Amino acid sequence: MSAEDQKRQAAMRAVEMVEPGMRLGLGTGSTASQFVALLGERVKAGLSVICVATSTATEQLAEARGITLSTLDETPELDMTFDGADEIDGELRMIKGGGGALLREKIVAMASDRVIIMADESKMVENLGRFKLPVEVVQFGLRATLDMVEALASDCGCTGEIALRKTADRQPFVTDNGNYILECDFGSIGDPDELDEAFRFIPGVVESGLFLDICDVAIIATKDGVKLFEARRDLDEDVD
Ligand code: A5P
Repeated sequence: MSAEDQKRQAAMRAVEMVEPGMRLGLGTGSTASQFVALLGERVKAGLSVICVATSTATEQLAEARGITLSTLDETPELDMTFDGADEIDGELRMIKGGGGALLREKIVAMASDRVIIMADESKMVENLGRFKLPVEVVQFGLRATLDMVEALASDCGCTGEIALRKTADRQPFVTDNGNYILECDFGSIGDPDELDEAFRFIPGVVESGLFLDICDVAIIATKDGVKLFEARRDLDEDVD
């Protein structure tokens, strides 16, 4: 089964968790897109839900599928958010932001009672950091911010190239919030909590792609079936 098939499997399991009347957060990326498509089918069949999107891309996708959209200002408390991840470890700590939507994803996740992460098995890792950690930074003072990120990360034992994310035509990638993204090639992050804490001292850093203590349930599609991992309860349920 391909990674794309696994993403769909995970999204299929996730969409079963949606109940009528729920207020939902919609993530960003290819797995979240599969979820939005499946949710659209349920909406077409009569399901009533209100959704807040984490990116302009997801907003457009949801609109095209006939899903009712709201904003966090109108709907500041959500029941569940469904999103993907770039990496997820055994403690359900994650790296997110590959699609550049990490800030809105984190804001929406924190406004949700439960955060459900859907992923194919390639996203499960022993240590976070092989995926280049995205860090959203303001455009002003970019060089100074990058230098501080490098210095404080190094104090946490994280070294490696830190580069500005570029678009296909070599222009700086600009997020939906008008910021830049630094990609940190640390290889392995020994202490994600310490690094996350360190980033909070840097005024130019808006948010990092470290999502710690945020995931409630991870739905991982593997070649042996779809598995659910629940935070803090070590539940491992096979759902073939
Ligand atoms: C978007 O900014 C990311 O956080 C995505 O959730 C992440 O990149 C996963 O993407 P895929 O579902 O496309 O692998």
